[in-house]
Amino acid sequence: MSRKTPGRTGARELRTRVKTARGRTVSSTQWLQRQLNDPYVARARAEGRRSRAAYKLLELNEKFRLIRPGMRIVDLGSAPGGWSQVITEIAGADEKNPKIVAIDCLDMEPIAGVIFVKKDFNDANAPAAILDALGGHKADLVLSDMAAPAVGHRPTDHLRIIALAELAAHFALEVLAPRGAFVAKVLQGGTERDLLVLLKQNFEKVQHAKPPASRQGSAETYMVARGFKG
Ligand SMILES: C[S@@+](CC[C@H](N)C(=O)[O-])C[C@H]1O[C@@H](n2cnc3c(N)ncnc32)[C@H](O)[C@@H]1O
Repeated sequence: MSRKTPGRTGARELRTRVKTARGRTVSSTQWLQRQLNDPYVARARAEGRRSRAAYKLLELNEKFRLIRPGMRIVDLGSAPGGWSQVITEIAGADEKNPKIVAIDCLDMEPIAGVIFVKKDFNDANAPAAILDALGGHKADLVLSDMAAPAVGHRPTDHLRIIALAELAAHFALEVLAPRGAFVAKVLQGGTERDLLVLLKQNFEKVQHAKPPASRQGSAETYMVARGFKG
């Protein structure tokens, strides 16, 4: 991944300290300190991106060439919209006939060319709502950056994120066109084995990838499955 990585320029590091730590929990002070010193956060702000997560998709796309102009794409866990912005930049934003469908349980500001569905993906009718938004067409790419808010108990967080990734994978098997691709965020740690088996049965190639924008200290990683067998 040759995209220029912020913060690795060799320049002297100037760290910003949180001055208002009193009254904050240790973890919220640490989070704020990390945000203030994160070069991806600064770059996202400077480039008008809605999230630093946008760089993870840009880096994954640089490595795997997932997004191409005119593709139909589903963005699961889309808010605040960083990935949807990247998708429209690369795939194009067809405002009259939108080909990109995004879903999140939180609100998301509109993006031209993206149909947004506000819904919990765990709802039994969520897949039907996305299929409806796709207008009966198959998708070329299903992306899931879904993550339930962390509770801080590692095994619980792991199980919750894998459950979402498995749900997303089963949905992808339903909606993808042959040769399509699927990407899902997971946490490293063991229980993603069933998901790996499912993906290997249904896709030509399955790989793990941790883009540089994914924080080094986090267990977050992405599963990238390409060549849906249909
Ligand atoms: C890391 S954020 C996604 C960031 C997004 N990719 C971007 O670039 O702006 C994870 C998102 O997953 C959403 N999410 C988590 N569980 C969900 C669920 N069950 N249904 C729908 N969205 C969910 C959260 O609301 C949150 O907005």
